Amino acid sequence: MKKIRLDKYLSDHTEWTRSQIKKKVASGLVKVQDAVIRDAGYKVSAEDVIEMEGQRICGQQYQYLLFHKPAGIVSATEDTREETVLDAVRRGGFAGEGEVPFLAKDLFPMGRLDKDTEGLLLITNDGELAHRLLSPKKHVDKVYYAKVQGKVDESDVKAFADGVDIGDDTPAKSADLRILKSGEESEIELTITEGRFHQVKRMFHAVGKEVIYLKRLSMGSLALDKTLTKGEYRSLTEEEIKKLC
Ligand code: URA
Repeated sequence: MKKIRLDKYLSDHTEWTRSQIKKKVASGLVKVQDAVIRDAGYKVSAEDVIEMEGQRICGQQYQYLLFHKPAGIVSATEDTREETVLDAVRRGGFAGEGEVPFLAKDLFPMGRLDKDTEGLLLITNDGELAHRLLSPKKHVDKVYYAKVQGKVDESDVKAFADGVDIGDDTPAKSADLRILKSGEESEIELTITEGRFHQVKRMFHAVGKEVIYLKRLSMGSLALDKTLTKGEYRSLTEEEIKKLC
């Protein structure tokens, strides 16, 4: 396993410069495998768990794939009856630069999109990142585009901002609804910070309307790449990984 200097590893995987990192290392703010390391020249490998200021630094030991999920497949790793997003990725559809990546065995979809929902799905084997980003405490923005049966108007914008009752113990958190087209069939963009089961569909159902098409456009700092057609995927760039972690 190739080893590199700790300061080089950290500057490759964070927005900090080498000299800023050296200061942080010297101040005892960096841990490797749970031990404080004060030597910036300490050699680390991609296998090591590295933390800076209490935050784990994501590295090359994990795989992060941006997948444009088409409708008709389920967000699961395996299913004996239905095609899963992992089946689809393994079948092909690589649209990144360079060689098709060797796909890790333990990949899983980070969060779920319904079978009929399209759009951005992150596929990874980084369980810690998934745990952190999917945590209800984290409030990561998810932006959806939807076509809705019924006239979406300002009363819905207000209801969603106030937090609509979707039949759970607590109402949905305040959400930002943007009307793109209001008519018998409306088009909207909705930003939510939670990820409850069928959340967008249930929010519209609560105001007497039905979602007839749903697509996720972004999740936190990660946006669906317009060059990816449905069913295609690519690896995240170093920049995207840094922002996400
Ligand atoms: N909300 C839904 O209703 N479905 C999805 O797939 C995602 C969010």
